Amino acid sequence: MIERFGPDEWERLKTVRLRALRDTPDAFGSSYERESRFTPETWTERLTGSWWRVAVREGRDVGLVCVRIEEGRAHLLAMWVAPEARNRGVGSRLVDAAVERARQAGVEEVELWCADHNAAARALYTGKGFTPSGRTMGLPSNPDIPESHYLLSLLFRAARRDDLPAIVAMLADDPLGARREGDPGDPRYLAAFERIDADPYDELIVAERDGKVIGTMQLSYLAGLSRLGAERCQIEAVRVAASARGQGLGRRMIRWGIDRARARGCVMVQLTSDKSRADAHRFYDSLGFTASHEGYKLALS
Ligand SMILES: CC(C)(COP(=O)(O)OP(=O)(O)OC[C@H]1O[C@@H](n2cnc3c(N)ncnc32)[C@H](O)[C@@H]1OP(=O)(O)O)[C@@H](O)C(=O)NCCC(=O)NCCS
Repeated sequence: MIERFGPDEWERLKTVRLRALRDTPDAFGSSYERESRFTPETWTERLTGSWWRVAVREGRDVGLVCVRIEEGRAHLLAMWVAPEARNRGVGSRLVDAAVERARQAGVEEVELWCADHNAAARALYTGKGFTPSGRTMGLPSNPDIPESHYLLSLLFRAARRDDLPAIVAMLADDPLGARREGDPGDPRYLAAFERIDADPYDELIVAERDGKVIGTMQLSYLAGLSRLGAERCQIEAVRVAASARGQGLGRRMIRWGIDRARARGCVMVQLTSDKSRADAHRFYDSLGFTASHEGYKLALS
């Protein structure tokens, strides 16, 4: 069971947190030595200044998680499950509660740091959709231990099969798209989706807000021999729903795609845009792209 702390329960927080720091010192940026010296006032400030949850099993406190909201982002911190309660889904429920808290706070991203050697935590976080951002540093409490930064977007995610009608509608709601798209129920859309979904080098992304799909793009990771076998990312089929335009969503989506490609180790992001789309060209220029190549197409049907 996941419980909140009572407003005066700083000693309970202290007990669980100090046990976590003693149990797995290499998992946390802080240390037992440091926090065992905290005064009751500091514990009270910690308890009231952030969102904490404790996992309880058979009447005993066996897990902890903290979320701090700062600068429009949620930071997931202090994640710990007692050894006797591991591998029973407690960690999974604590992460779910933390992500739900972030959603309720209206932020678009959850971030955390995780030591690279910590296979259990990495599996837990990546299973929940967190991806490495590419940032790394030494663990503050022991700089010899490398740790990596992970992000979970609450706005952008991989598309699911039931997003297809909304995606096709966005592709069709466009002067060029209107001429070439068809019935969203056409099995060819599903077949294409399933192929993309099964391919680790291809991602169909959607932006979702308040349960509505309001943007999409496809990211394809292309292999090539040039530049020492470097991978490049191709962005295709970018659309923001008409109702969501002019709010900076497209810009955030492309930036998110660029960060994602960079974190994978891609050396370049490339795209083509129809010559008639003057507004789109200005949009990509403003994001740092340069129209350095002529894009050639030969229609085969
Ligand atoms: C990491 C930790 C929080 C996981 O808690 P947990 O309650 O054991 O995790 P769960 O049982 O909820 O497991 C959820 C998922 O995590 C992954 N996972 C958990 N332990 C794992 C392990 N030892 N090896 C590989 N994957 C593991 C699995 O993918 C699992 O999903 P599954 O049940 O579908 O296989 C726990 O091991 C822990 O507290 N470790 C010490 C402190 C720590 O490392 N904190 C993280 C700081 S960043």
